[in-house]
Amino acid sequence: MTSHLQSPIKIGPYQLPNRIIMAPLTRMRAPENTPTDLMATYYEQRASAGLIISEASSISTQGVGYPATPYIFNAAHVAGWKKITAAVHAKNGHIFLQLWHVGRVSHPDFHNGELPVAPSAIAPKGKAFTAKGLQDFVTPRALELDEIPGIVADYKNAARQALEAGFDGVEIHGANGYLLDQFLRDGSNTRTDAYGGSYENRARFLLEVTAAVIDVWGAERVGIRLSPSGTFNDMADSNPEAFFVYLAEQLSPLNLAYLHVVDALEGDIRHGAKVISLAALRKAYEGTLIVCGGYDQARAEQVLEQGQADAVAFGQLYIANPDLVERFKLNAPLNKPHAATFYGGDAKGYTDYPSLT
Ligand SMILES: Cc1cc2nc3c(=O)[nH]c(=O)nc-3n(C[C@H](O)[C@H](O)[C@H](O)COP(=O)(O)O)c2cc1C
Repeated sequence: MTSHLQSPIKIGPYQLPNRIIMAPLTRMRAPENTPTDLMATYYEQRASAGLIISEASSISTQGVGYPATPYIFNAAHVAGWKKITAAVHAKNGHIFLQLWHVGRVSHPDFHNGELPVAPSAIAPKGKAFTAKGLQDFVTPRALELDEIPGIVADYKNAARQALEAGFDGVEIHGANGYLLDQFLRDGSNTRTDAYGGSYENRARFLLEVTAAVIDVWGAERVGIRLSPSGTFNDMADSNPEAFFVYLAEQLSPLNLAYLHVVDALEGDIRHGAKVISLAALRKAYEGTLIVCGGYDQARAEQVLEQGQADAVAFGQLYIANPDLVERFKLNAPLNKPHAATFYGGDAKGYTDYPSLT
């Protein structure tokens, strides 16, 4: 049987050898917030992926919400990331950087005691991941209208730094309950100005950020990640299917590198997610569609076979299997990921998962 996963695909200007994508994975191993040599080893080990999407990287200090995560807004960050892009390119791999602002799911500890920012002053349920351990989320401060252009400019600056650092493209993190997603949903966005209310207004910030990033990179090297069914970080929406179909229709004519959709995960379904069908998004969005979320090899082959997506991203399987492409090819057994070493620490549970050869 021919493998769809192992067949080549063109994404943006790049001819990629397979459709096996490494999902963005925060690993919290940048103690000074600058990418390290250990991180270069980790990404290099995974360079046979058709495309690597980097861990989420903060576009500004305001956008930070987890310790030991990498940043992408100054020359030192660029120097650190350059080692990673060089290591991946030396192995003929491709890597996009994920641009991140966490918005309300931060904590005053990251901001000299100041409140995190959000579309509206609505506290999410849950806990922030701080240097002192888990702490309750606080009620964020609603962004003033005149602050929004500054955040769009931060995205643009970060996009420029990513270009300088030698990435092949960037992915705008519009998923998983972070700032852009907070603007998209009426559960977290109750603004009454041009950034809240109607679908057009809720999509405005994401589309402005996208335009700014396209200015730097050109559309064909910009991807966007969305999680229409997601409930992570207390996301809720009155009618997510209608809204995300609308948004996919707005994104479709931009000719982006891809749209990356996080499917409903078990946790989302347990938390009452309204599950958005891939078919609805596929219909609304004409370009390349990457899907992610609980896929194994068989389900991934199936979703490609059925034409519901063009490529599949793997998260936990990539944590544990640097040579996932080769293992799939051989139908070889997979290493099991160890959750205790997902976030923070050193080489253990990071660069020590074995390859077959
Ligand atoms: C340790 C860990 C870190 C993650 N970090 C990110 C991230 O930085 N950006 C993001 O968009 N998603 C992140 N995710 C979500 C994954 O990209 C992916 O959507 C999720 O793991 C589901 O796919 P899977 O079932 O193949 O693991 C993370 C997931 C895990 C387990």
